[in-house]
Amino acid sequence: MSLLNQLGIKHPILLAPMAGVSTPELAAEVSNQGALGSLGLGASSVETARQQILATQALTDRPFQLNFFCHESCPTDVEANQNWINYLKPEFEKFGATPPTELKCIYPSFKDNDDYLNLCLETKPKAVSFHFGIPHSNQIKKLQDAGIITMVSATNLIEAKSIEAAGIDIIIAQGTEAGGHRGIFNANIDGAIKTADLVQLIKRHCSLPVIAAGGIMNGAQAKAVMKMGADAVQLGTAFVQCKSSNANIAYRQALFDQPITQITATISGRPARGLINHWQAEIDQANRPDSAPYPYAYDIAKQLNALALKNDDVGYGAFWAGSNVAQIRQLEAPDLINQLVVEMNHA
Ligand SMILES: Cc1cc2nc3c(=O)[nH]c(=O)nc-3n(C[C@H](O)[C@H](O)[C@H](O)COP(=O)(O)O)c2cc1C
Repeated sequence: MSLLNQLGIKHPILLAPMAGVSTPELAAEVSNQGALGSLGLGASSVETARQQILATQALTDRPFQLNFFCHESCPTDVEANQNWINYLKPEFEKFGATPPTELKCIYPSFKDNDDYLNLCLETKPKAVSFHFGIPHSNQIKKLQDAGIITMVSATNLIEAKSIEAAGIDIIIAQGTEAGGHRGIFNANIDGAIKTADLVQLIKRHCSLPVIAAGGIMNGAQAKAVMKMGADAVQLGTAFVQCKSSNANIAYRQALFDQPITQITATISGRPARGLINHWQAEIDQANRPDSAPYPYAYDIAKQLNALALKNDDVGYGAFWAGSNVAQIRQLEAPDLINQLVVEMNHA
């Protein structure tokens, strides 16, 4: 079966799941246009995730995907957390505040318990994708037995082969150009392989369908990577500017005004590519201590950002974006899909 038939879509285009930026409206607009909409639910509680899924189902009867994080759960490292709190203390003091005394694991992994799994089985999306790792084999089986397609991000060939060996249905090849978190399984190992190279590498060694993600901003780029073997493309950054995304005004403006990105692990504890702000420019110093592990670092980063926003400083937000963000266009989601399709047909 072709990937389009498998996913029930007309165009080989997927909206990247984007925790914090995804909305039911954006997902439904993309799905209603014949591409695959998505909800990034890795940062949502089960109840919020359920509300988002039901809201999306009310806006479209077309297929869409859900996305969760599959990181290895990390026990609290009190010393590492404290070192990181101490390092960030002057940032809080700039706003006349004190940092928190402890950090929390703000995002559970899909693997930690079956709450997210049961939500998927209850709401039956077309597909569920995972970032940072592979779910447990019994979780994969339950999803597939329910007719749900499973997808996992790979950033190198070792990860791709382990995804195939686990019986997952589709590999998402995430190149180093991609906005947001690197999907690397081990937070300390990143081969930084580019999207086009990764697609060809995985296609040579694996037989699963491959979706290319990272740095794709127009139809010509999508077509080029499909000529190299990708079965479809997944775009994130290109959709962040859409009115129906959850991005705030400062983020939208920065996409167009300061389109320079860098990967940093200091915001969340895992490497992620975003627009350069205080984190990359000032906090990510060579002499800094190791950041607290993921997602503990994200706990303090979010608190610092909330404090800064109260003081009208927008420079601490996690403005995730891919390295080709300079090519971003102001287009609402249905128009962007149409434009991508036209460009793909003419490439
Ligand atoms: C704002 C933003 C948030 C993201 N959040 C997630 C997420 O929650 N889950 C996930 O699997 N990938 C996430 N990603 C990565 C995307 O799935 C995808 O790899 C990336 O957007 C592709 O590169 P591009 O942004 O250059 O199109 C995010 C990307 C962005 C830009």
